[in-house]
Amino acid sequence: MKPVVLNSPDQNKERKRTDKTNNFEEFILDDSFKVLGSNKYYYLYTYGCQGNESDSEKIRGLMEGMSFSITYDLDKTDIIIMNTCAIRKNAEDKVFGELGRLKQLKRKKPDLIVGLCGCMAQEESVVRRLLTKYQNVDFIFGTHNIHSLPSLIKRVMENKERVVDVLSYEGDIVEKIPMVRESNIKAWVPIMYGCDEFCTYCIVPYTRGKERSRLKENIIKEVEDLISQGYQEITLLGQNVNAYGKDFVDHKYDFADLLSDLSELPIPRIRFTTNNPKDFDDRQIEVIKNSKNIMPAIHLPVQSGSNKILKKMNRKYTKESFIELCDKLYKAIPDVSITTDIIVAFPYETEEDFCETLELVKRCNFEGAYTFIFSKREGTPAANYVDENITEEIAYDRLYRLNDLVNEGYARGNNRFLNKIVKVLIEGYSKSNENILMGYTENNKLVNVLGDKKYIGKIVDVKIKDAKTWSLDGEIID
Ligand code: 5AD
Ligand code: SF4
Repeated sequence: MKPVVLNSPDQNKERKRTDKTNNFEEFILDDSFKVLGSNKYYYLYTYGCQGNESDSEKIRGLMEGMSFSITYDLDKTDIIIMNTCAIRKNAEDKVFGELGRLKQLKRKKPDLIVGLCGCMAQEESVVRRLLTKYQNVDFIFGTHNIHSLPSLIKRVMENKERVVDVLSYEGDIVEKIPMVRESNIKAWVPIMYGCDEFCTYCIVPYTRGKERSRLKENIIKEVEDLISQGYQEITLLGQNVNAYGKDFVDHKYDFADLLSDLSELPIPRIRFTTNNPKDFDDRQIEVIKNSKNIMPAIHLPVQSGSNKILKKMNRKYTKESFIELCDKLYKAIPDVSITTDIIVAFPYETEEDFCETLELVKRCNFEGAYTFIFSKREGTPAANYVDENITEEIAYDRLYRLNDLVNEGYARGNNRFLNKIVKVLIEGYSKSNENILMGYTENNKLVNVLGDKKYIGKIVDVKIKDAKTWSLDGEIID
């Protein structure tokens, strides 16, 4: 079937940034969509970061607004939606693998509708591949127009069309898209969308568009609503939360102001991710230091410990300024846990550069890190960097050596709580053992405890009895 292409992604357009001011819209679900999914089921795959998890909550809100019910059974479902991630090649491989398997399901159930969205949908090469080789994909939409989902589904259902609607413009902010949240204890709260950093390895500025901050009134209202529903924890989301408000024309309200206003609200726990060291300023540290409900766990991606590589990555800070920032955080926030992201085997990274990364990991006392081998992303500057000296063997060797060191940090971070009493927000039963409750400490350490389900959703005092590398065991103190 020939696809109807309403809009398709164009990386040249995605790369552009103009001075256009933010356009704010409010979503309204038209009555004509509200019974489209009666007696029908949807199955949702979510890959990638918290931003995508948050988008999936909107997808759920829209689907359930149209009366579709969620199912976790592929044989039962009428619609499948894949919310995808493009950050590394292996994230994309997973999606293509799953789409390959779904071809069989579609043969068995010819009326099954499959949609794909998220960051992969914003890539020209991916959409081309889907249109030619994956006839089982019926509709594709992008990160800027999640709210188009109802009209796309209607078209596919009623006209039996294949439709592509992926916008490449800088993106508006659409408020009031309904949401069905995963948890009734912890909530994601996006405070900004997009990214203007253009780190040379990263696809996100293309797939997520220009940096756009939500208005503070809308964020505060959302948090107040969450509080009234009994939520205990919020995590503020953005690709670079420290740059919140920099896109406002008057520049009068920034991340420190937002954190300060939110910390006045009666929400027990506030977290935020992800931070960019270059925009983490002293006012922000001061607000965190003076608040009671901003948690002492900061995720601060460094990417590399070599100034040469940081420059080639376009990270706009140095090893020295990063160390200074960590020192300030350690000094200002007692007991703070700092975690990070690191990429190894970036083109031109020598053994000496890599050893500088190892040194930095030791110097900064990280209590955890997500570590990655550099993955080429088509259309990014680093995709054109050629370094034949870094073989796959060298890349894996560096990753494993780094992981050994990082794991020492995890263990050290957990060990320091042995025999201490810590506050744990109990979230539910442990995945591996249905009799054990699990939750996280203020420092974001996973804790397992024995206890009654009455504790779920509560913050309890726990005495830590055993510290492992990845988790703590404790006892609730009533
Ligand atoms: N290759 C490997 N890792 C990457 N990241 C982002 N882009 C790439 C890439 N092309 C990592 C960074 C970032 C995290 C979310 O993913 O470390 O902080
Ligand atoms: Fe993946 Fe980045 Fe997109 Fe998140 S923003 S889904 S990590 S590519």
